[in-house]
Amino acid sequence: MVNVFVPKEIAPGETRVAVTPETVKKMVAAGLAVAIEQGAGAGAHFTDATYEDVGAGISTDRSASFADADLILSVLSPPASDLAQMKQSSMVVALMAPHQNHDEIKALKEGRVSCLAMELVPRISRAQAMDALSSQASIAGYKAVLLAAQRLGKYFPLLMTAAGTIPPARVVVMGAGVAGLQAVATAKRLGAVVEVSDIRDVVKEQVESLGGKFIELPDMGGGEGEGGYAREMGEEFLRRQREIVTRHVSQADVVICTALIPGKKAPTLVTEEMVKGMKEGSIVVDLAVAQGGNCELSKDGEEVTEHGVLILGPSNLPAETSVDASQLYARNIWALLDSILDKDAEQPAPKLDFEDEVIDGALLTHDGEIRHAPTREAIEGGTA
Ligand code: NAI
Repeated sequence: MVNVFVPKEIAPGETRVAVTPETVKKMVAAGLAVAIEQGAGAGAHFTDATYEDVGAGISTDRSASFADADLILSVLSPPASDLAQMKQSSMVVALMAPHQNHDEIKALKEGRVSCLAMELVPRISRAQAMDALSSQASIAGYKAVLLAAQRLGKYFPLLMTAAGTIPPARVVVMGAGVAGLQAVATAKRLGAVVEVSDIRDVVKEQVESLGGKFIELPDMGGGEGEGGYAREMGEEFLRRQREIVTRHVSQADVVICTALIPGKKAPTLVTEEMVKGMKEGSIVVDLAVAQGGNCELSKDGEEVTEHGVLILGPSNLPAETSVDASQLYARNIWALLDSILDKDAEQPAPKLDFEDEVIDGALLTHDGEIRHAPTREAIEGGTA
């Protein structure tokens, strides 16, 4: 039988877990032997007993379980010291952050361990159920608005009271991909007036259908690049964009930043000058902070107050909604695993089909090779 092991996440503040009782039940029914490290689900309020009830074993020996496992399922990459213990031809599925976890990827390569990186799953229609970037970004967008609403010294909705009228809060959302659109929807539900800046034309209609107002930018045509993502715009375009957006930002109570360009540093959309022009007591939440930030003053994982503006740089908002973030992530992982399980074999096991676009895209390491070209170039300087 294939041994699946789910280690406890060890990154500070990481509360999510890669499997839930719901998905473990499906794995056991599919013929896999599943072991969970003791307490792995605790941060997301899944007790060991709930996993045992659906047929999982509980492991108290992390090191032995890594050495025994055929398949590791994790939210973030386990450290290199764990990965180095894995058997040849075993497999890891996790959000690997390949741009930063070079030691971990080297350990996988040297150990000839296969790795499917959840963030590399191509975002094609067929793979939507496996799209962990979307499931987690959506939670981040929602939570960013709640965080701002909680800290803002004002109401979000318009209120007419006996003591007079309170105007609605004004929210500007920078970047309306998955996280940004969820931020728009959440801020609208709370009653705020929402304005949005993005550079892809298709976004306008999506924003308007959620009740947001799209901030028009001249000469935006072509903001869309490969795979429907944004392309990198020149500094002159960004300067004009900032000029136009400045007026909206200066009137905002909250600015939520989510603008990203795949594989590049996040564009600077809110400069220190723009923060200076914001109202005392207003809030910036910068979700792009790990990629360099959309706001010049945001700091990864920190909150700072500059020029009377509170600037939040939360590094892992999905972990603050651990139950649902885990539910969705666990389903993403199961959808991927289910698609590669060879169910006709006597002992059902993952089988990698290199002709499959999803596997070809997501397979970061295999058989002693780093297959993802940008990661290979970053680690090995372009040599295969
Ligand atoms: P992302 O996280 O890479 O970027 C977030 C947003 O920032 C994007 O909307 C982008 O246009 C915007 N942005 C970039 N530069 C900007 C600038 N200078 N000013 C303002 N905004 C800027 O994108 P995400 O959320 O991962 O997805 C983007 C799109 O990818 C989706 O809207 C969709 O079209 C596509 N997608 C397709 C999926 C599928 O077919 N399965 C699943 C998920 C996304």
